[in-house]
Amino acid sequence: NPTFHIAPSILSADFARLGEEVSRVVQAGADYIHFDVMDNHYVPNLTFGSMVCQAIKPYAGNALMDVHLMVEPVDDLIQAFIGAGADIITFHPEASRHIDRSLSLIKAAGKRAGLVLNPATPAYVLENVLDKLDMVLLMSVNPGFGGQSFIPQTLNKIKQVRAMLDAYAQHNGRHIRLEVDGGVKVDNIAQIAAAGADTFVAGSAIFSQPDYAAVIAAMRDELAK
Ligand code: DX5
Ligand code: ZN
Repeated sequence: NPTFHIAPSILSADFARLGEEVSRVVQAGADYIHFDVMDNHYVPNLTFGSMVCQAIKPYAGNALMDVHLMVEPVDDLIQAFIGAGADIITFHPEASRHIDRSLSLIKAAGKRAGLVLNPATPAYVLENVLDKLDMVLLMSVNPGFGGQSFIPQTLNKIKQVRAMLDAYAQHNGRHIRLEVDGGVKVDNIAQIAAAGADTFVAGSAIFSQPDYAAVIAAMRDELAK
């Protein structure tokens, strides 16, 4: 069984001091830096691209750059983020014309690959590509904005995908991470873990507070219960 990982989303960080924010949250105990790339096309919002990823990479230390692509199409940006120091690249299957090809691009570069499922996207899209996945990212809000409320129906989806990934691990001896993104807080993280998640994105929960380490420690306390 893998350990729990915390992935602060810098979508809610102070963009005017991004390097410092990344350093601070890594010092505070972040395992990953969750990097939300939005293109005002696949989602109705615009954030940052591979040049910003490359610029903040030196501030991330040992934390992995967890790049969540909310863009369409995906293949050119996959290449750009491979060059920009991404460690994990996830994308939404409906944003790629050829899902297997896009996953192969990431794997061929030696990076970790994942698919992201929106709240209404069925889990069966994972079935034929499990061998190429290192992570599944389940959206617990509709993508595009930080600070939204966790959609409770996601708990059923987490259980369903947990069962799929456990069955896969049993036959293949390979563990695929199950990450949850959207509305994760100190007061619901235990319930999300109990449903089967092992990796937790949190943006506003961490960056709205003055003491990032206190929030991350409180999350780990909840996970240890
Ligand atoms: C939403 C993003 C999330 C978001 C999470 O499209 O993918 O990563 O920043 O933010 P919170 O934790 O505030 O819901
Ligand atoms: Zn995200």
